[in-house]
Amino acid sequence: MKLINGFDLMEYARERGHILPAFNTTNMEMTYGIVKGLQNAELPGYVQISSNNLRLSNPFVIADLVRDAVKDSDTPIGLHLDHGKSFADVKACVDAGFTSIMIDMSHLPFEENMRQSKRAAEYCHLYGIPVEVELGALAGKEDDIVNEDNGKTDPKQVPIFVEGTGCDTLAVAIGNVHGLGLTPQIDIPLLEEIRQVSKVPLVLHGGSGIPKETIWECKKHNLVKINYGSDVRRAFIRVFGEAYEKNHGEFDLFRLSMAAVEAVAAKTQELVTMINEH
Ligand code: G3H
Ligand code: ZN
Repeated sequence: MKLINGFDLMEYARERGHILPAFNTTNMEMTYGIVKGLQNAELPGYVQISSNNLRLSNPFVIADLVRDAVKDSDTPIGLHLDHGKSFADVKACVDAGFTSIMIDMSHLPFEENMRQSKRAAEYCHLYGIPVEVELGALAGKEDDIVNEDNGKTDPKQVPIFVEGTGCDTLAVAIGNVHGLGLTPQIDIPLLEEIRQVSKVPLVLHGGSGIPKETIWECKKHNLVKINYGSDVRRAFIRVFGEAYEKNHGEFDLFRLSMAAVEAVAAKTQELVTMINEH
């Protein structure tokens, strides 16, 4: 299959009652593992890469890689920019053929977040690509960016922000955290308050570590997408770490890389299946 447009992917998931996982990739092996895991589960989802990671894998390289990885897939897979940190990154990813975009200006004051998110949304919409924006601040560690704030999304700001940005999905801060260092405490009543005033579906970042029952509950409150980074990265890294622990002279990079693809595929399959069990 070709990469699927983000609007079509959300529609596909909505019609079938699926929630869409988005798995963060860093390199070729992780990309192959994520795609394989989705294929094995026969469930739809996204490969996503953060702005920060684009310093290692430029948008054209990653887009070519993902296009190639999904070509034999029977399940719809999109390519998403995660935590887009500049208009230049958004533009580069649209130009490279990404099918879905996040602009994350949530560290900026409300008005400035809205202004910059709107600019990105207008650009993406010219190309028929949906845009995720973020309101509120997640605590924790995303790539090498550590955020100690934990400002939950204010439902009063939601309708103004959604209208003002023209976004297609809204990432919320409801006690979810990035990374594995903090424990998520998902505030379902707040999610419901947000759902009532948001005309667009909602996105949850920091999926690693959230219990499945909580995710199933979130699904009832118009959650369309959930992000997983740390869980799949850990599956990848563990292969190399364990091999090194066993043998400090290990140098069979090919065998370990193949094993890492399988480990990421298994974790991806486990997560996408788990979130869609109910
Ligand atoms: O944007 C990516 C994520 O929100 C991943 O969070 O590493 O806690 O799963 P996580
Ligand atoms: Zn995130």
